[in-house]
Amino acid sequence: MSIATFDAAVVDDVIKVWGAKPGSIIPILQGIQEKYNYLPPETFPCVAKKLGVSEARIYGVATFYENFSLQPKGKFIIKVCDGTACHVRKSIPNLEKFRSILGLTEKKVTTDDLSFTVQTVACLGACSLAPAFMVQSKGIDDKVYANVTPDQVPVILDELKAKL
Ligand code: FES
Repeated sequence: MSIATFDAAVVDDVIKVWGAKPGSIIPILQGIQEKYNYLPPETFPCVAKKLGVSEARIYGVATFYENFSLQPKGKFIIKVCDGTACHVRKSIPNLEKFRSILGLTEKKVTTDDLSFTVQTVACLGACSLAPAFMVQSKGIDDKVYANVTPDQVPVILDELKAKL
């Protein structure tokens, strides 16, 4: 999987939907992120110019909201829950298993081939299924995996790799 090249026409299309006004910064950034799976660096000068606001303002919005990513993400985003219920039911060994198989760390969260991103979340709202994690991927429904143990992690990863 490679990173799509930035295209200002994508920004134009999103702006057409939401209007070239500062009040539309959030949906415009969401639209761009939907297309690229992250906000490419070219986003900031491009959107700033088209909306007539400073790059710093666009950047400020993008970095304020956790849902925006300034780094490319993998095709599969694995969100390992480390909320209280999952933590006490041993979510960390699952997280460590994902990281060790994929060669990831707390700082390096995406594989070089952009297949997987592994991150933690505070609670998936599925505490009775602890320890749980969610897999998200463009074009498929989010899937929550329940009561996971570390020995299930390689099997789940193999299933996901078969879909790459
Ligand atoms: S703490 Fe993990 S789903 Fe709530």
